[in-house]
Amino acid sequence: MKAPALLLIHGFPLDHTIWDKNIEALSEVTEVLAPDLRGFGGSSTTDATTPMETFASDLMKLLDQRGLRQVIPCGLSMGGYIAMALAELAPERVAGLILCNTRSLADTEEAREGRRNTANDARTKGMHVIARAMAPKVLGTTTRSTHPEMVAHIEAMIAGQGAHGTAAASLGMAERPDRTAVLRNFHKPTLVITGDEDELMPLPTSKAMAEALPNAQLVILDKAGHLSNMEQPAAFNAAVIHFLRSHFS
Ligand code: MLT
Repeated sequence: MKAPALLLIHGFPLDHTIWDKNIEALSEVTEVLAPDLRGFGGSSTTDATTPMETFASDLMKLLDQRGLRQVIPCGLSMGGYIAMALAELAPERVAGLILCNTRSLADTEEAREGRRNTANDARTKGMHVIARAMAPKVLGTTTRSTHPEMVAHIEAMIAGQGAHGTAAASLGMAERPDRTAVLRNFHKPTLVITGDEDELMPLPTSKAMAEALPNAQLVILDKAGHLSNMEQPAAFNAAVIHFLRSHFS
């Protein structure tokens, strides 16, 4: 039996190319979809705010177009928020979940204020300002010292995103609810992945999600920061392939 298709959902403010080092290896096990979310990469938007539920319903339309009844959403960071929204809105379409470098909790009021500032900066100062501030934070200390070229690569990826889509997603993230109860009621196989050097989603965040989920395994990748799939692609791919083979073949 082939595993259900994997739906790779990128983080903020990035695009589908974050999965470039994963798609080939994962495609050996099952079908892989890696779309650009609304307002990112090759997709545009006129939304003022894009809630996580809107991204999730865009993805459901994509599944309908592709004739896929069920998938395994694999979301990184904001992609994880969207994967959890999908599990709440359409549990029948979700065969299992992979939640990478993400959290189920809602934002604090301070974090919401930060989202509003990011949205404002994207529109008024431009994406290069967001890119310069964010790029070093999303990579772990090991990657920053051993692969400094990745900082420039991520900075260019962020700078290339549209200010409007970035602002809309930032305001959408600020509105998202706490989805810990969704995880408590999700009994299908789930893999929680994080990096031991993730400065944006500290380890207790991932441990709490794995504890809330009735059927989860937690994998902590060594020497990986927030973009664990890019920083340690071989270990990331191996963890996902092991999960798929253990539960879906
Ligand atoms: C992401 O990588 O998607 C962001 O760090 C998510 C967030 O800002 O909460």
